[in-house]
Amino acid sequence: MKTLTVALPGREYDILIERGLLAQTGERIRAVLPRASKIAVVTDTNVGPLYYNRVKASLESAGFETALFTIPAGEKSKNAVQLAQLWEGFMEFGLTRTDAVIALGGGVVGDLAGFAAATILRGVAFVQIPTTLLAQVDSSVGGKVAIDLMAGKNLAGSFYQPRLVLMDPDVLNTLDLPQFMDGMAEVVKYGCIWDREFFAFLAARPDREKLMPEIEHILYTCCDIKRQVVMDDELDTGLRMILNFGHTLGHAYELAGHYVEWTHGEAVAAGMCAAAKLGVALGITPAELPDRLEETLASLGLPVAIPCDAATYAAAVGRDKKGTGADVTVILLDKIGHAVPHKMPKAQLVRLLNSFNKVP
Ligand code: GLY
Repeated sequence: MKTLTVALPGREYDILIERGLLAQTGERIRAVLPRASKIAVVTDTNVGPLYYNRVKASLESAGFETALFTIPAGEKSKNAVQLAQLWEGFMEFGLTRTDAVIALGGGVVGDLAGFAAATILRGVAFVQIPTTLLAQVDSSVGGKVAIDLMAGKNLAGSFYQPRLVLMDPDVLNTLDLPQFMDGMAEVVKYGCIWDREFFAFLAARPDREKLMPEIEHILYTCCDIKRQVVMDDELDTGLRMILNFGHTLGHAYELAGHYVEWTHGEAVAAGMCAAAKLGVALGITPAELPDRLEETLASLGLPVAIPCDAATYAAAVGRDKKGTGADVTVILLDKIGHAVPHKMPKAQLVRLLNSFNKVP
């Protein structure tokens, strides 16, 4: 068992990583929530049929009463209607303030269930059981929970740390290849922003067959980096911004593809490549870095450029939560393994991106 502790004052919690951990869900939660009796399990139509029975059996053998809440799979479910249905369902189930909510699924389930847990009865204990690589290395750790609004993604939410994160690498075996590689974009991001050796380790393993035998080390390394960043800056006013590497531009590509053409990971991969070129143009990033990054991402089957026009760049940069007035902070690399926030005028950013991000 690999264990990491996110040591936030008064809200310390563990991330446990072990193959087969799903079958220990009940006992692991009992150890941190000795007084809980009811557990609401939120999952989606893809994950529930695969894993709910295993989780339920383990919870019941640890003495918990469970109820299942299944949302339709997909980003469209991260909305206020689903949130209100969860609130009402939790109350019908008789959830009390000493009970708990589990998110069993990917980022959408984690964000929605987490926000529901944060707000029902002014907050009940929350446990993350992420079942995608993307959720394991990113969204299940650090306490960001949210729903989407018409005006944009993740606009209504809060910081609400889980009480426990249970990561079973075996669940990744049921992901299809694009979903797995979607998460790999975020994995490569950690190498870029924090750990040069980890980047080289990933670059030497360009396919799923070579990555899976090392998956516990990969999950541990990514979560360890995220843990350190979150402990330094839980509320995202400083260091945590570096996790946004590739994301400001990635949001432009998600917008360009109307959120259906490109997965989040694909958009982030192309966004990291654009940020690398931007860094070179601004004299911050070494000239040879973009090729190295592109080679690594392309070998994983991820896109290194996505068509996008100036108006879409401007729209995405304009609504970026890291922006203030006429300026925006983009995350650049001054070398592989080290990120630097760089504040620049939005208009200059759009002009530069538009000048070099021509896709053949
Ligand atoms: N996903 C970026 C963060 O948690 O800050």
